[in-house]
Formats: sequence, C-alpha cells, structure tokens
Amino acid sequence: MGDGSAGSRGGYAGRGPVRVGVLGCGNVSSRYVANLAGQPEVDVVACADADPVRARALAAAHALPEIPSVDDLLAHPGLDLVLNLTPPRVHAELTLRALAYDKHVYTEKPLATSLADARRILDTARARKLRVGTAPDTFLGTGPRTCADLVTRGAIGTPVSVNAAMMNAGPERFHPEPEFLYQEGAGPLFDIGPYYLTVLTALMGSVVRVGALGATARPERVVLTGPRAGSTFPVQTPTHVNTVLEFATGALGMLVTSFDVTATRTPHLEIHGTGGTIVAAQANSWGGPVLLRGAGDTDFTEVVSGPQASDGFMGMGLVDLARAILADRPALATAERGFHVLEVLTAIADSARDGGRFVPMTSTLEDPGGRQPAAPAGR
Ligand SMILES: NC(=O)c1ccc[n+]([C@@H]2O[C@H](COP(=O)([O-])OP(=O)(O)OC[C@H]3O[C@@H](n4cnc5c(N)ncnc54)[C@H](O)[C@@H]3O)[C@@H](O)[C@H]2O)c1
Repeated sequence: MGDGSAGSRGGYAGRGPVRVGVLGCGNVSSRYVANLAGQPEVDVVACADADPVRARALAAAHALPEIPSVDDLLAHPGLDLVLNLTPPRVHAELTLRALAYDKHVYTEKPLATSLADARRILDTARARKLRVGTAPDTFLGTGPRTCADLVTRGAIGTPVSVNAAMMNAGPERFHPEPEFLYQEGAGPLFDIGPYYLTVLTALMGSVVRVGALGATARPERVVLTGPRAGSTFPVQTPTHVNTVLEFATGALGMLVTSFDVTATRTPHLEIHGTGGTIVAAQANSWGGPVLLRGAGDTDFTEVVSGPQASDGFMGMGLVDLARAILADRPALATAERGFHVLEVLTAIADSARDGGRFVPMTSTLEDPGGRQPAAPAGR
C-alpha cells in the first residue's frame, strides 16, 4: 500500500492555511477545534451537524464564522478539507460525499465500518487525487514514538512479542449517549482497538493473521452520566475480546480489549525483545511514561516521564496532514494505515464469531512506523 500522497493535488505551494469544515459537532468536536486553534497550517472556518442546535453551540463556543447545512458544508467552495467527526456508521458515506465535492478528508476512527467501504474510500481518493487521513493519531505522541525509537535503535534487540491490554468498565461512565458504542461494529474491539492496533502495527509492522475469542458479560448496560442516567440499553457486540496476532516479522502479539473489567494493574503495553523489555503506560493516549529494562539491567529505567505538554493532542494527525498537503509530501496518519488496522479489526471480529478460527490478512503496511512528526505549534 502507498503512503497516501502519490499524485495528490498540488496547487497549495505558497498558500495556506488549509481551510477546514467540521462535520459532526458532538462530544469530541470541541476538543478538536480548541486544539486546532493555535495551528498555523489549519483554519477551521465552518461547522455543520445533522442537529443544527449542536452546530450552533460549537460555532458559538469557538467563534467559528460559518454554520452551513450539512449539504452546503460538503459542497462549500471555500473549504479544502472536511473533518469528519460523525458516528462510525456514517463515516464512509460522508467521507465519500466529501471526496465527490473535491475535499480532502480527515476522519475520526474507524475509516469505515466495512472493508468494502474502506476500499472504496482509498480508490476514490486515489482516482480524484485527494488525501484521506484517519484517527487515531496517538501513535504520533511522545509515548508511542519513544517506544518506536527504542525498538528502531535496537534497545531491546529483535522484538519477539508484544502484550497490549485495554480494559475498563465501559464508556457509559463518561459518555452521556453510550449506546452506539455497544452496537454491532463498535464494542471495545472497534472503539478502542484501533488505538492499540495502530500503535502495535507502527511498532511491529504488518499483521499477517489473527485468532480471537469474544464474550459478553451483560446483555444490558446502564447509562451512568448525563440527563439520561439510569436508562438501560441492549448490548449487541462482544464486550471482552482476547486476540492472538502474528506479525509479518514472525513476532507474536496478545491484545485484550474489554468493557467488562472493574480495575486492572496490567501494564497497558509491553514489548519484549531478544535483549530487553519496554513497558508503556498506555497506547490510547499521546503520552505516558515509558520504561526500559535491557538484558543486563537490574531494574527498569524511565525513558520518558509524562504526561508532558509536548505529548501531542487529538488532531495532530490532521495538523500533519495539512502540513503534508501544503508541502506535497506523504502524511503519517493515512487512510492506508487505517485500512490495514480495519482489516485486522474485522478479522478479529470474524475470528471471535467463528470460535477462534485464524483469519489471514490481505493488506500490508509499507511504512509501518512512519517518520517522527514535527511538534505541533506551541507544544
Ligand atoms: N467521545 C470520545 O471520547 C471519542 C474519542 C475519540 C474518538 N471518538 C470518535 O469521534 C467520533 C464522534 O464521537 P462523539 O463522541 O463526538 O459522538 P457524538 O455522538 O457525541 O457526536 C456525533 C455528532 O455527529 C452528528 N451526526 C450524526 N449523523 C450525522 C450526519 N449524517 N451528518 C451530520 N452530522 C451527523 C450527531 O448529531 C452528533 O452531533 C466517533 O467516530 C468516535 O468513535 C470519540
């Protein structure tokens, strides 16, 4: 797979910033718009939502000049890029519509909920010479980059295995409308799995096959926060998934994603090599401490203490994409990366549904780790 830049439209040299329209003004939109405000390569000029009340609230909170309808935002001649922050089920449809209007796109994860739709996005972007970037961008943060740098410079010898665990009691603790996170195509695997698999593939390279088992602890969950606290809703997806991964290098991985765990002391990410071990606090955030213990060491040494202001932030993948568009160079958080991660996620879900049958991948990552990103402005 390519790096998402081949033959992309030029015409940006000496021009800027990239003019962004936000599509979907829900929970995460405010964080994105606040983070992007200080970035010179990006200018957020408009926002739209199927619910105009939400669009007006976001525009008012951040003094955004324009609040078009969803159709008008997609067709807006004064926008270069659509930031797609809608729910996963409409990501592909809206990304494809934005591409049809000659807009670059940066979408929240996942790229799409089906591989066929994700393939359509890659093909359309390539044919129309447009860029598509996708979250998560946490692999560009200081914590995951520190791990990648340690692996690259041989601090643990040859990587042999990786263990990753994302286990908590579920998003109903903080999300006022958590139902969509328990529907088919969501759950801990598709909601948080993309963070972990994006980091794991950036560190270890392409996955060649996976096997998994899934379980659902409770058929119903309860909304715990917001105006609808106390209401119940059905669970339509496994809420605990254990996965075994094989990487193209021959290294093996274990990934646990769960919304059924009250508390854990499991390290979130461990990478074991022939000459040492790295322990990282987490793989679904931009920072966090990284510990290293070489074969001859008697204890772990902290390589990065965090979180730090320079750790990165939600949207740094979009900032890198804007810089890449302006400089006509490859981006880092590409749709090709998102496609491979989605293929792995889909294969894990298929395997869990089939009782653990191993499922092979068809896609590979040409540039697993990517380059070190330049620091965002002011960080
Ligand atoms: N909530 C989080 O902590 C979080 C963190 C990281 C990533 N994400 C991802 O970000 C995305 C958005 O999450 P959220 O929590 O902000 O969701 P949300 O439900 O709070 O917001 C989504 C918004 O999209 C709007 N919308 C729905 N369909 C639309 C359509 N067809 N056209 C235009 N607008 C439409 C909704 O009205 C809503 O305002 C999701 O893909 C999610 O996976 C969320």
